[in-house]
Formats: sequence, structure tokens, C-alpha cells
Amino acid sequence: MSQVDFPPKCGKRALITGITGQDGSYLTELLLSKGYEVFGIIRRSSSFNTTRIDHIYQDPHATDRRLVLIYGDLSDGSSLNRIVRDVQPHEIYNLGAQSHVRVSFDTPEYTADITGLGTIRLLEAIRESAQSCKFYQASSSELYGNAPAPQNELTPFDPRSPYAAAKAYSFYITRNYREAYGMFAVNGILFNHESPRRGETFVTRKITRAVANIKQGRQKKLYLGNLDARRDWGFAKEYVAAMWKMLQQPEPDDYVIATGETHSVQEFVEAAFGHAGLEWRDFVEIDPKYFRPSEVNILLGDATKAERELGWKAETTFSQLVQLMVESDMHEVKLEIEGKGR
Ligand code: NAP
Ligand code: GDD
Repeated sequence: MSQVDFPPKCGKRALITGITGQDGSYLTELLLSKGYEVFGIIRRSSSFNTTRIDHIYQDPHATDRRLVLIYGDLSDGSSLNRIVRDVQPHEIYNLGAQSHVRVSFDTPEYTADITGLGTIRLLEAIRESAQSCKFYQASSSELYGNAPAPQNELTPFDPRSPYAAAKAYSFYITRNYREAYGMFAVNGILFNHESPRRGETFVTRKITRAVANIKQGRQKKLYLGNLDARRDWGFAKEYVAAMWKMLQQPEPDDYVIATGETHSVQEFVEAAFGHAGLEWRDFVEIDPKYFRPSEVNILLGDATKAERELGWKAETTFSQLVQLMVESDMHEVKLEIEGKGR
């Protein structure tokens, strides 16, 4: 994991929900490297949930610390009110969510509460605190459902999961608070982005982790669902820079963030097994339990507006992404076998 330099403070405070997630960890590194003080909301868990930020964790007793973790929950409006009032952030990044699409079919009400209503609780906390604070909402390409590709900021939404429906609520309420109350509130409509820190039940990481385990003889088969679905996959570390850029614009607006390339799950599988010198057909089986009640067939983003207005463009290619994830998992699995892993 990369280390972070601590340049002089820039006088800005950022508050992040979802700081323990993939994007939260990369965004925290980025903001710390820019001199921000970062406050992160974590939820109570019976096991450790801070693995992705352990390398930048700072002793709570250090007087000059830049990273502060606070217990709270997107289901608990009173905790959000108190945290926003106490921290008085200049920028809030709302990355917290029940973010798994398949799981949202099993827990639709919970997903609506956290991924949908969590956003209004946070926006109300800002409004009630009467502070001027910029707000970033983690919107998603899942909103497009089966709308024709390529999708851009003008493409109509077609939510096809409880997760997407909850994100649609958050998208529109963020836009409404911008229009109704003049808040600097933006939606980043991010297409799939992956990394070695991706949760292990999302398809890319599930595949790269399996490749590493199979290579080491620790796993025999990989069970997957729909191999024909197509996604626009980019590298998460680059995507958090786009979030920050959106909040530095003179005016609030919504932006698509994507690579502009789409690949099937099968293409990802082929590339990942191929990189390890394995023939994927020898190991991959289909298990219908991973099919979704309603699927999103093809996502392909057009990020022209982000390139023009934010100066942001995806750099890491599909094959580089697959390679860096496979190599990271190979390394991690090797450490685990040697008893040095987490
Ligand atoms: P992730 O790794 O699943 O992280 C989700 C974060 O939300 C975790 O820190 C999690 O905490 C936190 N969280 C869950 N329930 C919460 C609750 N009740 N209260 C407070 N925090 C809660 O997701 P990600 O990939 O980093 O994505 C970040 C955001 O972008 C999410 O909103 C996601 O829906 C959205 N998004 C992601 C992508 C993508 O491709 N990655 C694309 C578009 C949009 P624990 O660690 O305790 O579980
Ligand atoms: N998770 C998973 N597991 N997906 C599988 C599997 C499997 O075993 N087999 C096939 N797939 C297919 C899914 O059906 C889907 O079409 C595709 O792989 C990608 O699934 P995920 O990696 O779970 O991601 P997602 O596209 O559903 O959702 C992610 O991207 C969204 C942005 O478009 C999440 O990060 C969401 O939070 C995010 O909003």
C-alpha cells in the first residue's frame, strides 16, 4: 500500500462517509497529500473494518494528526448532525452505501435506507448547521440500467435494482438541494472502478483473487454468474481525483466519469487467467445463484464533459488494470501462504 506525505496543512477540512471502503481509502490518501485534515465516519463492527486505511491511521493522541475517525452511521441522523456541527467541514464526500447490486435484491429496504435516505440525512445535517459546505454524492452508472450506450450526462436513467433505485433518489435529492437551497452539491456519475482494494465479492476482485489462489493450488474452481454483461472498468485511484476536481469547480454540476471502453465479464476472466498462464475454461463454472433478477447488460461511459471541464481523463487501460490486480493478489496470496499476510 502506498504511503502518504504530509505537506503543510492547507486549512481545509474534509468529511468522508465510507472512508473504510475502496474509494474512501484512495480519497483519504489524496486529500492528506493535498494538506487537508480528513475526518472519516466509521461504523461500529464486531470485527476490524479499517484494513484499507490502517497504513495511514494516526494515533488519536498525536496533537498534529490529520486523520480523525469518528463513529457514526448513515442510518443515524443524530450522529450525522452532531458530526457535521462539530467538524465544520469545507467539503463532504458521501461515499458510504450498501454498494453491492446483487445484495440489494436481498436487502432492498436496508439498501433504500442507507444508500437512499442516508443522503438526505446528510444534506439536512448540512442545511441545519447553516454552514457553507461543498457536497459530493457518489452517484453511479448503475442508474442507466439498460439505457442505450454510450451513456452521458443527458442519457435518461433506467434503474434496474433496489441499489439503483436508491441511488436515483440520492441523485435527484442532491440536485434538488442545489437548486432549492443554492448548495454546492454535485453528483459524480462514476462507472465501475476497481483496484487491489476492491471488495472481494465484486466480480473483478473475485476473479483476480481466484486466479491467485488457483495458481497456488488453494482453489480448484471459480463459480460465476453472467459472463456476457459488459462494464466500463477503470482504476479507482484515478477516479477519486475526479471527485475532488468536481468540488474545485466555480459552479456545481454533475459529471460522468468513465474510460469510454467496455468489456465483458468473460473478457476480464480471459485476461486475468491468461496473465497467470492459465486456461480459464479449465476452472470457471457457472452458478445461476450469481445471476441477478434483472441485469444491466452494457455500460459504456462518455466522459467528454469531464475531460473538457475538469481536465480529467482515465489513464490506466483495461489490460493494465487486470494485470495490476492479478499481480497484487498473487503477491498477497503468497504472503498469506508464508504466514505474513493479513
Ligand atoms: P465500498 O468499498 O463497498 O465501501 C462502502 C463504504 O460505505 C464502506 O466504508 C462501508 O463501511 C460504508 N458503509 C456501508 N454502510 C454504511 C452505513 N450504514 N453508514 C456509514 N457507512 C456505511 O464501495 P466503493 O467501491 O468504495 O464505492 C464508494 C461509493 O461509490 C459507494 O457509494 C458506491 O455505491 C459508489 N459507486 C461505486 C462504484 C465502483 O465501481 N466502485 C461506481 C459508482 C458508484 P464498512 O467498511 O464498515 O462496510
Ligand atoms: N459480483 C458478481 N459476482 N458479479 C458477477 C458474477 C459474480 O460471481 N458473475 C458475473 N457477474 C456480473 C454481474 O452480473 C454484473 O453484470 C457484472 O458482473 C459486474 O458485477 P459487480 O462487480 O458486482 O458490479 P456491478 O456493476 O453490479 O456494481 C458495481 O458498479 C456499479 C457502477 O456501475 C458496484 O461497485 C456498484 O456499487 C456501482 O454503483
